[in-house]
Amino acid sequence: MAESELAVHNLSVARGGRPVLRDVSINVPRGEITALLGANGAGKSTLVLTIAGVLPALRGSVSCEGVQLLGQPPDAVRRHGVALVLEGHPVLTGLSVRDNLAAAAMMHARRDAEREIEAALEIFPELRNRLSTAAQNLSGGQKQMVVIAQGMIARPRYLLIDELSFGLAPSIVSRLAETIQVIAQRGIGILLIEQFTTLALALAKTALVLERGELVFSGSCEELRNNPEILHGAYLATGKKLAGSEMAQEL
Ligand SMILES: Nc1ncnc2c1ncn2[C@@H]1O[C@H](COP(=O)(O)OP(=O)(O)O)[C@@H](O)[C@H]1O
Ligand SMILES: [Mg+2]
Repeated sequence: MAESELAVHNLSVARGGRPVLRDVSINVPRGEITALLGANGAGKSTLVLTIAGVLPALRGSVSCEGVQLLGQPPDAVRRHGVALVLEGHPVLTGLSVRDNLAAAAMMHARRDAEREIEAALEIFPELRNRLSTAAQNLSGGQKQMVVIAQGMIARPRYLLIDELSFGLAPSIVSRLAETIQVIAQRGIGILLIEQFTTLALALAKTALVLERGELVFSGSCEELRNNPEILHGAYLATGKKLAGSEMAQEL
């Protein structure tokens, strides 16, 4: 196993008594973006939730630079350097932006907490003049910034992002896309779930495709672009016409 890697090996997960992931093995290297693609219901969220310690696995392993994470609670996984950005940019709505960031920083000693909050505000300077705004009054894009900032405050070596652009305006999506590239350049490994495959493949070096709980592709984004039938197959696999036609437009 490589030293600088988050490695998932033969992971199987069931939800509601039904198998949802079957023998999934992936690697997320530091310092680059890895795209995790697949239709609705393919198991993308289940995979990142299991890596983050939120969902239990039936079997398999998740290790971060040699440390076994599977079976550890989400807090411990975060302390080992793996942060999760949940889908739908879920901020703590009743709290101000400052308190949302402070809540994420509670894992650190006070001095470190201040420093991490400051570092997060350097990534998202737009949040500086929103610090006393109640998070529920932010735009979707601003909420996503808060949630990514919360992830960065954990000082992660790996950041799992469940749906970067979902429900956000195109201008904010390109702003966030630039930011996650900067974050990757700092040496953080990013596992990116992103509905717009064109965007995901433009940002990522490697792509992974899940189809009904199984990994059907793992390779370079270029290889995936050159073999569009892989994605077509994966997005049509659910039998949902909408997902298939969206893909056809994007490709
Ligand atoms: N809370 C849940 N309870 C039971 N089954 C679930 C739950 N959430 C998701 N599932 C099932 O797990 C499968 C994978 O879902 P999910 O990981 O959310 O897929 P994706 O993120 O790729 O859209 C789907 O078949 C879905 O119905
Ligand atoms: Mg999902």
